[in-house]
Amino acid sequence: MPPLWALLALGCLPLGVGVNLQPQLASVTFATNNPTLTTVALEKPLCVFDSSAALDGTYEIYLYVLVDLASSRNASVQDGSRTPLSSTFQQTEGGRTGPYKATAFDLTPCSDLPSLDAVGDVARASEILNAYLVRVGANGTCLSDPNFQGLCNPPLSAATEYRFKYVLVNMSTGLVQDQTLWSDPICTSRPTPYAAIDTWPGRRSGGMIVVTSILGSLPFFLLVAFAGAIVLSLLDTGSSDRETTHDSQITQEAVPGSLGTSEAAYTSVNRGPTLDRAEVFASKLQD
Ligand SMILES: *[C@@H]1O[C@H](CO)[C@@H](O)[C@H](O)[C@H]1NC(C)=O
Ligand SMILES: *[C@@H]1O[C@H](CO)[C@@H](O)[C@H](O)[C@H]1NC(C)=O
Ligand SMILES: *[C@@H]1O[C@H](CO)[C@@H](O)[C@H](O)[C@H]1NC(C)=O
Repeated sequence: MPPLWALLALGCLPLGVGVNLQPQLASVTFATNNPTLTTVALEKPLCVFDSSAALDGTYEIYLYVLVDLASSRNASVQDGSRTPLSSTFQQTEGGRTGPYKATAFDLTPCSDLPSLDAVGDVARASEILNAYLVRVGANGTCLSDPNFQGLCNPPLSAATEYRFKYVLVNMSTGLVQDQTLWSDPICTSRPTPYAAIDTWPGRRSGGMIVVTSILGSLPFFLLVAFAGAIVLSLLDTGSSDRETTHDSQITQEAVPGSLGTSEAAYTSVNRGPTLDRAEVFASKLQD
């Protein structure tokens, strides 16, 4: 590439001709739920405007948003003197009557991109994603303040097709230096109608049916278990009553004495598990 002065001298510095690129949706690696009902995450135009040569001076990138309608498909974001439009969300009915400036950020030099290696680090992830992505529709603060003057980037409408454009503004002149093409239409997601959430079991997944039926029959099982516990405890009380009666009969028989060793053994077997060794010993002693 020839040096900058040579280009300037020849008057062919490719400025203002437009970068032949379109804004792109953020990669799913970084933005898994994208677009949402009200936001669209885009890749920032890194190394787009300064891919061939570093830019000196201060630059900002403006992001314009436009609802995709036939009437405004090729809308310009600058006036005759290349001054970027400053129309807001409210003035353009959310991008329906023309492009609005949703947000602006500094140009990160191509040579100075943050490393993606640390993106797994929770503490740094948000900072790194911020460097690479911009989220349209992320800030509704301005809507609640009627006197709000600054940039307004409020939530987008659901199920609406939008186009986006990045513009490079030379801050020393305040003029448009370069711009990308309008993006392809990007549609925000559609609200899930209530009917589609819970219609009939045929639409549910197998796992969901299992979980639902287990949860559904849980009270029944609990009831059965409870009833069972009651029956068991009744039976148990009955049998231990009988055992006690039985035991006392045997004891009464045993007390008068004249029991042989075999009879004592019989007694001990029939007295059940509550029989104490000491009692057996005592009954033997009585013999
Ligand atoms: C879009 O705008 C460009 C430049 O302003 C112009 O050359 C082109 O004809 C326009 N296209 C349509 C479809 O209006
Ligand atoms: C939302 O915008 C307001 C006004 O521009 C700003 O003060 C605030 O920090 C922004 N909030 C977020 C989360 O970006
Ligand atoms: C930005 O504006 C300044 C001031 O007019 C100018 O010197 C500089 O060359 C401009 N940048 C480019 C890339 O033209």
